[in-house]
Amino acid sequence: MNKLPLNKDIETKKVLKKSISANRALSLLNGVANIIPNQYVLINSLILKEAKSSSEIENIVTTNDELYKAEIEFEVSRDTKEVQRYKEALLKGYELLQKDRLLLIKHLVEVQSIIVDNNAGIRKQSGTRLKNSKGEVVYTPPQSFNEIMDLLDNLEQYINDDSLEDFDYLIKMAIIHFQFEAIHPFYDGNGRTGRILNVLYLVYKDLLNLPILYISEYIIQNKDKYYELLAKLHQQQSWEEYILFMLEAVEETSKDTIRTIEDIKALMDKQAEIIQEKLPKIYSKELVELLFMNPYTKIEFLEKHLSITRQTASKYLKQLSFIGLLEEQKVGKAKYYINKEFVEVLSR
Ligand SMILES: Nc1ncnc2c1ncn2[C@@H]1O[C@H](COP(=O)(O)OP(=O)(O)OP(=O)(O)O)[C@@H](O)[C@H]1O
Ligand SMILES: [Mg+2]
Repeated sequence: MNKLPLNKDIETKKVLKKSISANRALSLLNGVANIIPNQYVLINSLILKEAKSSSEIENIVTTNDELYKAEIEFEVSRDTKEVQRYKEALLKGYELLQKDRLLLIKHLVEVQSIIVDNNAGIRKQSGTRLKNSKGEVVYTPPQSFNEIMDLLDNLEQYINDDSLEDFDYLIKMAIIHFQFEAIHPFYDGNGRTGRILNVLYLVYKDLLNLPILYISEYIIQNKDKYYELLAKLHQQQSWEEYILFMLEAVEETSKDTIRTIEDIKALMDKQAEIIQEKLPKIYSKELVELLFMNPYTKIEFLEKHLSITRQTASKYLKQLSFIGLLEEQKVGKAKYYINKEFVEVLSR
């Protein structure tokens, strides 16, 4: 398997043109994220969306309802737990990146161990083959532990040392993603770890301040093409087509995410106004933000984040339900409250 740098002239006119529009969309997204003051609102809601799409590529399927219930610590299915772990893994990767200010292979090993919930780590046994839906082998990744480690070392250098190759960062993100998938260092979870790597790289290179660009939804919608492009790259070095695909993914997703953020902001403003008007005694900026941290909420969240008693928290939620802002639900004895309009925005 080839090492990096590519040392190929892949920045064709078409690629450069597309990279300009993709970069422009991404930078707009980065700016728009600032309209939501509490960063946790955006990170949490967009990560939930991403965790769902990215896991769906691996046929791990949940519903928004299940996922939001998991967030308020209800008993949920195994698949939903796996989707939730994807979210935790992504946040862990982001935390490690901020701590070390480098994007390291050991971070990815930690990310993957959270996704798959085991410590098997880098492949030590040979036998891993990539097969298509008919069960035919489409690609055989490196088999020996030493070769895998050597290639990962090389990838880590490429990610962290910009002097090795001076392509545009979005183009590099695409190259790094392919290289990571081609090394396929783990027994499982390579696709999901590689998709988390994409967003971490954009944050690392300061193209984004927060991890909020997730191309998994685009990838599921174009899954066959994505697999075909990866497979073709091994044989034909068809970089242009693959890079254009990834740039288009960045551009489209940036535009979609901008719309989502604007919708969230508009809804936050609207709900803030309603509370100020109808329940002025309980209004606070923090209360509104809390209603947007999780699509479903419960008494304990209010108690904790607003530092109020259980009784007061319960009263607030009753009043918010009474004016129709939240919808009260019961599972056995436990109650939870749905911010329906927020759920709608997130499901668009
Ligand atoms: N021909 C190929 N060459 C290199 N990588 C490939 C090829 N075909 C698929 N892949 C990558 O392998 C990933 C699947 O690997 P794996 O099952 O380990 O990951 P996963 O996270 O469990 O699954 P998924 O990516 O389906 O969610 C795909 O998402 C894709 O990124
Ligand atoms: Mg898998």
